[in-house]
Amino acid sequence: MAQELLTLTGAAGSFSPFQLAAMLGVFALLSMFVARVLSSKFPGSKPPIFEGTPFVGGLMKFAGGPWRLMEEGYAKLGDAFTVPVAHKRVTFLIGPDVAPHFFKATDEELSQTEVYNFNVPTFGKGVVYDVDQKTRTEQFRFFTEALKKDRLAKYVPQFVAEAESYFSRWDESGVVDLKEEFARLVALTAARTLLGREIREQLFDEVADLLHDLDDGMRPISVFFPYLPTSYHKKRDQARAGLGRIFAKVIQARRASSKKEEDVLQQFCDARYQNVCGGRQLTEDEITGLLIAVLFAGQHTSSITSAWTGYEMVSSKTRGPKSPYHAAVAEQQAILKKHGSALNFDVLGEMETLHLNIQEALRMHPPLLLVMRYVKQPFSVTTSQGKTYNIPVGDILAASPNFAHMLPTVFKDPAVYEPARFLPPREEDKAKPFSYLGFGGGRHACIGQNFAYLQIKSIWSVMLRNFDFEMLDPVPAPDYDSMVIGPKPARIRYTRRKLAA
Ligand code: HEM
Repeated sequence: MAQELLTLTGAAGSFSPFQLAAMLGVFALLSMFVARVLSSKFPGSKPPIFEGTPFVGGLMKFAGGPWRLMEEGYAKLGDAFTVPVAHKRVTFLIGPDVAPHFFKATDEELSQTEVYNFNVPTFGKGVVYDVDQKTRTEQFRFFTEALKKDRLAKYVPQFVAEAESYFSRWDESGVVDLKEEFARLVALTAARTLLGREIREQLFDEVADLLHDLDDGMRPISVFFPYLPTSYHKKRDQARAGLGRIFAKVIQARRASSKKEEDVLQQFCDARYQNVCGGRQLTEDEITGLLIAVLFAGQHTSSITSAWTGYEMVSSKTRGPKSPYHAAVAEQQAILKKHGSALNFDVLGEMETLHLNIQEALRMHPPLLLVMRYVKQPFSVTTSQGKTYNIPVGDILAASPNFAHMLPTVFKDPAVYEPARFLPPREEDKAKPFSYLGFGGGRHACIGQNFAYLQIKSIWSVMLRNFDFEMLDPVPAPDYDSMVIGPKPARIRYTRRKLAA
């Protein structure tokens, strides 16, 4: 889910605006009709429209890339503006003045179902965006329970073991692309901690292939037409069914055994609904769906954030001995001295410098370009320019962590990698709520935030202790063509330390 929120992002990358216009043209008239009905129902000033020619104008703007669209729209019209895209009105709310309602609203006021339900064929029936709000709330409770502190403490040794084993295979020195390396490593840690020991140890390759087909079946066009009969959608559906069969066997064996594993799969096997579904256990297919949802939310987001952290941190080395990179290495040395080589939940908790490096990398490069909601009850926003606008029912709302994090009115020198900005007195504390949106915020803030930090800190602790790094390229540009915004390829050199740092 989190990773797939970029619905309209990728749309720009893979087909021309004219093709898109043709595909969706049938909705144009409907859109005008709906817009007219809505505006007569909710009189008052709506946000200004940002487009060239109606209908195609908005599409053209999206096709040029949401980033450029936001840049132009924000410069011309301020924090709130609407872009008609095909048959929909997409209203951008940019910056902390207009963000609060987006993040705080109840699901009855602003809904996720309408904007995220293209995930249904990927996650499967009966879970997340295919169920009513009450059932979804219970399913999210299963996530929350599987990711709370006492559970997280048990995942840390598994992160560390995977990272140590992975980097033990690196040479004395070499050149790598961090995005590729972390995609592989995080798939392994996710398999172990989320999908379970059986998958990690016996079925990894088979499951990885199916997950690849599932991933590949999530194309920009799937956002608009998730059931379009294409070859990649067919493969997606076969992969989903295949995963269902594999997990059914694993779950049956788990439930028949008295042994309890330390992973998210075990939590789901043991969980029961409380206020819905008659208090029953989850079905095997629901468990499969929830595991896929968690994987889609957490895997690419975490691996990409690990890569950005590395690129920004190591690039800062040229700033000299006080650079964020040197500070992170010094922190590892101090902690090694204090605790020996142990890497556990409490020790990771002491790594404030590494934490700030990750937090700042996520400020500069949040993997989710847009998060969205569907307006079910009208509301109003007042912009930083003091203008009040009414937002009508039926609008799709879009907030952009990336764009908001680059506002100089919110973060000083936003293009500079400066982890110390989060030290007391933190800019963030002085800033308005919902200024930092790396993990979203409010009612639907990321449930996996602590899991992600622990995973990324485990990986980078192992790396900084064992290797020195040097960038061979500048910090790479973001690749806006992918569903989760990661870095374009870049080379980094590692050299094994003679003794651990
Ligand atoms: C929601 C980012 C890792 C599970 C979100 C949202 C963001 C986000 C921005 C809010 C979406 C919205 O408002 O519509 C990230 C980033 C991660 C990360 C940047 C890594 C660096 C994870 C992990 C998991 C996870 C590791 C699970 C293991 C979830 C779930 C939600 C969510 C279940 C939905 C919460 C809800 O709708 O109530 N994430 N996430 N995320 N994330 Fe993450």
